[in-house]
Amino acid sequence: MENIVSLCKRRGFIFQSSGIYGGINGCWDFGPMGVELKRNLKEDWWYNFVQQRQDIVGLDSSIIMHPDVWVASGHVEEFHDMLVDCKECRKRYRADHLETDVCPECGGELTEPRAFNMMLKTRLGANDETAVETYLRPETCQSIFVNFKEVYSSSRMQVPFGIAQIGKAFRNEINPRNFIFRSREFEQMEIEYFCRAENEDEVFEQWKKDIWQWYLDIGITESKLRWFSHPKESLAHYSSRTEDVEYEFPFGWGELQGLANRGTFDLKQHTEHSGKDLSFFSQQENERYIPSVIEPSAGADRTTLAILCDAYCEEEVDGDKRTVLKLQPNLAPIKAAVLPLVKKDGLAEMAQDFEKQLRKKFNTFYDQAGAIGRRYRRMDEVGTPFCICLDYDSKEDNTVTVRERDSMEQTRMPMAEVGDYIAQRCSNERD
Ligand code: GAP
Repeated sequence: MENIVSLCKRRGFIFQSSGIYGGINGCWDFGPMGVELKRNLKEDWWYNFVQQRQDIVGLDSSIIMHPDVWVASGHVEEFHDMLVDCKECRKRYRADHLETDVCPECGGELTEPRAFNMMLKTRLGANDETAVETYLRPETCQSIFVNFKEVYSSSRMQVPFGIAQIGKAFRNEINPRNFIFRSREFEQMEIEYFCRAENEDEVFEQWKKDIWQWYLDIGITESKLRWFSHPKESLAHYSSRTEDVEYEFPFGWGELQGLANRGTFDLKQHTEHSGKDLSFFSQQENERYIPSVIEPSAGADRTTLAILCDAYCEEEVDGDKRTVLKLQPNLAPIKAAVLPLVKKDGLAEMAQDFEKQLRKKFNTFYDQAGAIGRRYRRMDEVGTPFCICLDYDSKEDNTVTVRERDSMEQTRMPMAEVGDYIAQRCSNERD
């Protein structure tokens, strides 16, 4: 894990937030490489679960919502972790994360566990007396429920259908830890899938297959994935059944995505609290009812971390160590690096012109500094799947060498074909 964290900092994937002020616990910044990787991941998710499906539409709602939303959703009452303090050193722990009944830091006596609400409060309004106290959303899905009627009537969706959203969520985690795995500010990729109550189990099983397949499609090693089925006592207040996809991180197994049966809980709660009818009228069946909800809810940051851990590789090549991120091409921050063999004799200019053309199609990087081998290694470290080298022959016949990151094999190719070849190899499209 240390090597991965160090690579992330060194090569601009992930930095500690507010680092020059000593950092702030549980908040992270995605640098030039990290932002591209996470954007590609979110785009792949959207491509797969929204663009490719006639039965799912998207939403992008506000982070701050009416405070009554969080009363109705049960978060004000129920969204807490059990917290204990050490009476000696004052350190705080999540009770369910402790393996001993004394302080793991100093061996001191611990207080009795007490409930700690994890929602982050904020105030809206310029005037202290009239400002409204509300929360930063702890999950993105509540706005999907609140907008249920607006969405299905404006887009003429019929049950079964889903609403998808990607966005920030905030939780005042007691112990943020394991790099970006448990943070206080993070992004979720959620779908609320509305179906008839009698189809809940069938829909749940189909989602199990679909989300498992997506992890394989984004290149996660299958043997590092498993399902965890929540026992009754660990179910969230809204769920009658939850199964998590877990990944085997270097620090152990951790949840990537929860699949929950939320039944009619949320739509009923919002109907009751808002006084607005959130039922669905099916013209085909001439029937009005509140649909059930199956919810696949994934973390974008955790999935990014799993991708980095899964792709990280140290290999020996000709007696040297090479660090390589074997990212799937569609997720790679840079798709192709353009490298002139030497700077002189017009090769640098030719390579720069070529890079400018390719840049219109996908993310590229131009590098003329240092020996070609060193330049390849720098690209391997950030997971660039293709390096294009221009040499003296390129000037004669307009061909280049395309080197593949994983096999390190080099193929000669006409310059005119390179753009389409790489765009196709890096596309989100699947068979
Ligand atoms: N709407 C349902 C929901 O929010 P959850 O299991 O609490 O369910 C869903 O969260 C996903 O959000 C998790 O599987 C995880 O990937 C991500 N997530 C939750 N808390 C997180 C945190 N503190 N840091 C990073 N990701 C988190």
